[in-house]
Amino acid sequence: MGPNLHKIIGREAGTRASYSYSDVLGEADFVWTPAKLQDWLSNPRGFLPGNNMTFAGVHRPRDRTAVIAYLMLESGYEPGDLPE
Ligand code: HEM
Repeated sequence: MGPNLHKIIGREAGTRASYSYSDVLGEADFVWTPAKLQDWLSNPRGFLPGNNMTFAGVHRPRDRTAVIAYLMLESGYEPGDLPE
């Protein structure tokens, strides 16, 4: 379920080729930063109403940070991927 998250950090939201996003995610105009991922994972439905991610999110801030750190380490993040 859901788009492949390889190199998600620093990528424009809703732009992975070959994935069919909801309209709200496809039309979203922001880059996935650790701060945006904190917001998304704290309340996926509330962050972007109408998106298709049927996941309640990660309640504890420290657990969200751990997930984001994991993504940075394991999803191909490199220094320079994030905007200044
Ligand atoms: C901690 C676990 C998860 C993380 C970090 C995560 C992260 C993300 C991110 C960053 C996106 C946007 C991708 C992009 O812009 O290219 C996304 C989309 C999506 N995720 Fe998750 N996700 C998680 C768990 C799940 C689970 C458990 C499901 C399914 C049960 C799921 C289903 C989806 C779907 C369907 C979308 C596309 C939403 C849309 O098109 O509106 N995700 N996820």
